[in-house]
Amino acid sequence: MSQQPAYKRILLKLSGEALMGEQDFGISPEVTAFLAREVQSVVDIGVQVALVVGGGNIFRGEGLARAGMDRVTGDQMGMLATVINALALQDAIERIGGMQARVQSAIRINEVCEDFIRRKAMRHLEKGRVVVFAAGTGNPFFTTDSAASLRAIEIEAELMLKATKVDGIYSADPKKDPSAVRYQEISYDEALGKRLGVMDQTAMVLCRDHGMRLCVYDMSREGALRRIVTGETGIGTWVN
Ligand code: GTP
Repeated sequence: MSQQPAYKRILLKLSGEALMGEQDFGISPEVTAFLAREVQSVVDIGVQVALVVGGGNIFRGEGLARAGMDRVTGDQMGMLATVINALALQDAIERIGGMQARVQSAIRINEVCEDFIRRKAMRHLEKGRVVVFAAGTGNPFFTTDSAASLRAIEIEAELMLKATKVDGIYSADPKKDPSAVRYQEISYDEALGKRLGVMDQTAMVLCRDHGMRLCVYDMSREGALRRIVTGETGIGTWVN
């Protein structure tokens, strides 16, 4: 396996649900420790890593909005949930030793973490620190996938990775349709046209319009992140 990174700076999007592991709510310490080790495996070879995490393991604004809750309030609660997850990741990353992490939030909660300041985030990355972007874009009606696309573009990441529970993008839901096939590569236009549900349309259009390459892969496969970052293209689905 090549030890040379193919990318200098990446942004990895983790779903909130991914942090639950086998639990049906909250944060699994085993999962955050596993993720920290995966991140360390690429930081060790000199890759600058930024993370964006969702909040669905703690709170989902959309569901309550459907049940009558004010959508903006629900989304703000969801943003706070991502801050909780970001702090858990910061802790897990620093706890395994050898790495430093900084949480930057899109909404101001200075007692808990830094504000999102692009130039400061880039400086942290240059110093080898892992930066965890919290609170989405800071706005209601935007998903954390959109936040990930936005931050990836802003910090000039060379690759955005979306860590999921499946090993890429399929032509149909593989659980429902046995004839579903995994795309190895697909264009944003095709994924948008076919409404493949990789990310929401806002997130995809942002990436497409700014030439951000995306790799969707199965985060539970140990070593997958390192293999992708060292140039393997046979893993997951690549969206260009
Ligand atoms: P350098 O500029 O390279 O020294 O970066 P640094 O992050 O080590 O220095 P800084 O003095 O900015 O921060 C020291 C510590 O305070 C770090 O753990 C930061 O995450 C934390 N910190 C910085 N700004 C804030 C803030 O606004 N709120 C909170 N809660 N912590 C902060």
